[in-house]
Amino acid sequence: MVFKIRHVALLASTAMLAACGGSDADTVELPYGTAQQLMANEVQPTADIYWGAVKFESILNDDGTVTERDIRPETDEDWATVEASAVHMGELGAVMLTPAYADGRGDDWSDFAQGLIDVSARAAQAAADHDPDAVFEVGGTMYNVCRACHQMYPPEELPEGMTVEDVQRPNNDETLEEYVAGDQT
Ligand code: HEC
Repeated sequence: MVFKIRHVALLASTAMLAACGGSDADTVELPYGTAQQLMANEVQPTADIYWGAVKFESILNDDGTVTERDIRPETDEDWATVEASAVHMGELGAVMLTPAYADGRGDDWSDFAQGLIDVSARAAQAAADHDPDAVFEVGGTMYNVCRACHQMYPPEELPEGMTVEDVQRPNNDETLEEYVAGDQT
């Protein structure tokens, strides 16, 4: 009998943890892990696909010459990949809106998450239209949404040497990690 009661109490405290999310996030089941894991494992790689689709690349060759080229989706399959990344970003925005990630945050959290959903819909449309200029432009707007949320909710544990200002759009073919590493050297 005593065991039973203790068991019930344990369940109740787990439910409370689940309800307030955020603080003890490690101990509860979140669909994509903690906010940090959601960002690092899903949001950033998805953004990289979108931002990497249309860009200007300037490569310094071994012989000192520079090769410059415009990167843009070529095949229907390329465009479909770009569109899919935008659709997935919208889904991730919706995940951020769920209580597991939104509870305990301010009202503006939902505005930022909704902003990401809205800009992702425009991003998907630009890809569906096979419009490189629009993909580039909407990609910039998407970045502004990321940045706005990060300014209000700065990452708690940033990689060494990194500030909130560094959580930004990686340029050209750099990943965020390479970008940060490059800044330190
Ligand atoms: C609704 C708010 C919100 C939006 C929108 C948002 N983020 Fe984040 N992001 C966070 C929070 C909160 C953290 C800090 C997580 C932590 O350290 O606990 C974070 C952290 C990060 C990190 C650092 C992860 C790490 O390994 O520490 C990256 C990278 C990142 N976000 C990328 C993005 C990108 C790219 C976008 C836009 C496409 C974006 N985020 C949009 C809230 C947001």
